[in-house]
Amino acid sequence: MKINTAEFIISNSDVSKCPKDFLPEYAFIGRSNVGKSSLINMLTNNKNLAKTSGKPGKTQLINHFLINKNWFLVDLPGYGYAKVSKKTKSVFQQFITDYFERREQLACAFVLIDIRHEAQKIDIEFMSFMGESEIPFCIIFTKADKISKTKIDSHIAAYRKQMFANNWAEMPPYFVTSSSEGTGKEQLLNYIDEVNQEIFNNNGF
Ligand code: GTP
Ligand code: MG
Repeated sequence: MKINTAEFIISNSDVSKCPKDFLPEYAFIGRSNVGKSSLINMLTNNKNLAKTSGKPGKTQLINHFLINKNWFLVDLPGYGYAKVSKKTKSVFQQFITDYFERREQLACAFVLIDIRHEAQKIDIEFMSFMGESEIPFCIIFTKADKISKTKIDSHIAAYRKQMFANNWAEMPPYFVTSSSEGTGKEQLLNYIDEVNQEIFNNNGF
């Protein structure tokens, strides 16, 4: 799929104020600094579309970007980097969980994982929340340029093992990406295109 237009539409922290259009959307979620905003920029060929930073906590709101005038990419704040007390550290921000529980237009969520690190408790917790809420999601391993191909394979194998250990019957579909090198772009856009076609062929959700 070719991206012809990518436009910022709105930022907010209230799911009821998200765009009312009934267009399919794809949300990027994961720990702060994992590369959500960078990946949106890579997919849309626009370095300045989503705000990125070397410091965690850059994206603070729900951001809607309209793509090709008929579907949305959604950039979300990260989890796991919280200026909150220890007690509430593992709790995801309420407006993020609201977004996932209430946004009917969500066609698929992409949970981003830094390929360099082994599974973190908070990522497993978040995926459990997605599973319990019956929200379709894929895993995107990011920053693939930072390690060797052999390590990429062994880290994915370790992830699969850890998911089984946490009672997942199977690993969700996954993609390996690098925003700096453009890795995974075609696969990801093709996947989105397939899901879009399915939705449009059914005349909606
Ligand atoms: P928050 O908005 O804070 O949750 O972070 P984010 O997940 O949106 O991360 P962001 O895209 O802002 O990227 C964080 C840092 O990682 C930036 O310094 C990026 O340049 C870097 N980065 C993101 N993706 C890649 C990648 O694929 N390869 C490399 N080498 N660096 C990356
Ligand atoms: Mg961001």
